[in-house]
Amino acid sequence: MIHDRQTQETVGELRADTAGCEGVVHFNNAGASLPPRSVVDRMVRHLHRESEIGGYEAADEVSGELDAVRGDLAALVGADREEIAITDSATRSWLSVFTAVPWTEGDRILTAAPEYSSNLIAMLDLARRRGVRVEQVPSTPGGEMDVEALRTLLDDDVRMVAVTHAPTNGGLVQPVERIGAVVAGSPALYLVDACQTAGQVPLDLHRIGADALSGTGRKYLRAPRGTGFLAVLRAVLDTLAPAHLDLTSATLDGDRVRPRADAQRFELFERSVAAVLGLGEAVRYYRGVGLDWVHDYVTALAAHLRAELDRIPAVTVTDQGVHRSGIVTFRAETVTASTLASRLRERGINVTVSRPPSTPWDTRHPDLDDLVRASVHYYNTPGEVARLCSEVTALC
Ligand SMILES: Cc1ncc(COP(=O)(O)O)c(C=O)c1O
Repeated sequence: MIHDRQTQETVGELRADTAGCEGVVHFNNAGASLPPRSVVDRMVRHLHRESEIGGYEAADEVSGELDAVRGDLAALVGADREEIAITDSATRSWLSVFTAVPWTEGDRILTAAPEYSSNLIAMLDLARRRGVRVEQVPSTPGGEMDVEALRTLLDDDVRMVAVTHAPTNGGLVQPVERIGAVVAGSPALYLVDACQTAGQVPLDLHRIGADALSGTGRKYLRAPRGTGFLAVLRAVLDTLAPAHLDLTSATLDGDRVRPRADAQRFELFERSVAAVLGLGEAVRYYRGVGLDWVHDYVTALAAHLRAELDRIPAVTVTDQGVHRSGIVTFRAETVTASTLASRLRERGINVTVSRPPSTPWDTRHPDLDDLVRASVHYYNTPGEVARLCSEVTALC
């Protein structure tokens, strides 16, 4: 697919929409991707408007457009608009749900080996303060959560199953739908961290069977930094009591606090309106490009990159998983990951270093040291892959 002429023309057009493609080979899309021009323009226009007429007045002018962002996000994840909260990061979204659960001592939380560190920090901190137990579900030899093991671990004490859809440290994509089918037979809340998949893998809250799903803007969605979103099934909203409420997320009935009935109970009044408009534009742009096409292209280009890296004698690709994402990780025998990443940066190629503390429970530690992470997007090309591999060969 990646080499056919029609695809290359499409990618050429998408690159022309992306100012950053002119100056850099950007393989740090799992960190923050390059936004399309239209996203930047939308934000800058709004910032000008704020400076010309005032922040509240400028927000009033775009109230309809702001409202539409919620609908666009809902369509993106197969939710209703009442089930969407707009936040400023994936972690904020995830924590909003996690801290809203009425935990009791003895509750169990089941999670997977490559769970993201910030999520684990919240779980283990809760374990220390409230006496809940955090347990790792065993993985298959391929690195996925073992769904049969999950089935045997589930009982009425399991209050939450929390899974990162695509971990930060490699190409693994968890079988979130199969996990969801198993969790569905239990009283547990199923929370999916879709931070690395939103924008590269088509998402559907109902197909996954998730009760809640968190995501960020700046990664594969190509939205501005400081944006995120949360989808929460209407059926569980009332069971979640947000830890932080204000005059947007709740009302006062005398002295009685009433959280909003919809997912806006997880929002606060203040936000960057320009960033939210940018997020909306990024979601519309992505849907315009085509969710399935993006997934197919990113998957194929990442597979191509892995195959090319495999040809370099000093390099070992470390990705796991039956289904793999656009995140490619590798190590070189002759040079450290951070040296390789900084040498590549000097040559105009952005990659990053994935370090063990970002996935502390990954069972491949301590053998898994710092890795080079090259994460591809649909504006990357086979030519850029060739350039990366030729520089890596020269540096190893
Ligand atoms: C899997 C995963 N979850 C959550 C996060 C945190 O996202 P944010 O920085 O938007 O809170 C990251 C960030 O890299 C991530 O890779």
